[in-house]
Amino acid sequence: MLERYNAYVGERHLDVGVGTGWFLDHCNWPVETPQITLLDLNENSLSVASKRIRRYAPATIQANVLDPVDLGDVRFDSIGANYLFHCLPGELESKAATVASILRPYLASDGVLFGSTILGRGVRHNLLGRRLMRLYNRKGIFSNLEDDQRGLEQGLASKLTGVEVDVVGAVALFAGRQ
Ligand SMILES: C[S@@+](CC[C@H](N)C(=O)[O-])C[C@H]1O[C@@H](n2cnc3c(N)ncnc32)[C@H](O)[C@@H]1O
Repeated sequence: MLERYNAYVGERHLDVGVGTGWFLDHCNWPVETPQITLLDLNENSLSVASKRIRRYAPATIQANVLDPVDLGDVRFDSIGANYLFHCLPGELESKAATVASILRPYLASDGVLFGSTILGRGVRHNLLGRRLMRLYNRKGIFSNLEDDQRGLEQGLASKLTGVEVDVVGAVALFAGRQ
């Protein structure tokens, strides 16, 4: 995951579903002062992540990534959506297409949308993984029991070009362009 951040992050970066901001803190930025915007539904995640990378003075936006958002004229060289889709309700094809269509207008012409998500179908979870999947899906923390690689590819490819999806263990790693 860190390697992928290192490979993809650009000078103007939007991170969606920021969690604790660990990757933003540890990755190698291509410039000394990247312009970083954090978007998350949860104000605690925004607060923790923005404090963690306060040296970059990130902008924050509290919003649901499934709802259209007006970010104005800004365009990003990279948009990261890591470990986000498995938290979102609905079928993977439709949630991936929705997020990609909402974010695509904010990609620079050579920008990249990249991310990762835990799949529920067509992959092997170990015992602990299976228990966590059941528990988290029951509690509504995850919604990914039916998520598979094909749905992700189709959802992303309906809105983006050059879509690549690699599955490593139970995690799908993806990237696509405008
Ligand atoms: C598992 S964390 C991902 C953390 C981080 N990207 C990483 O890879 O370490 C999921 C994040 O997505 C956010 N999130 C969940 N549903 C969301 C939604 N509908 N819109 C925006 N953010 C959402 C959560 O608040 C949380 O910060």
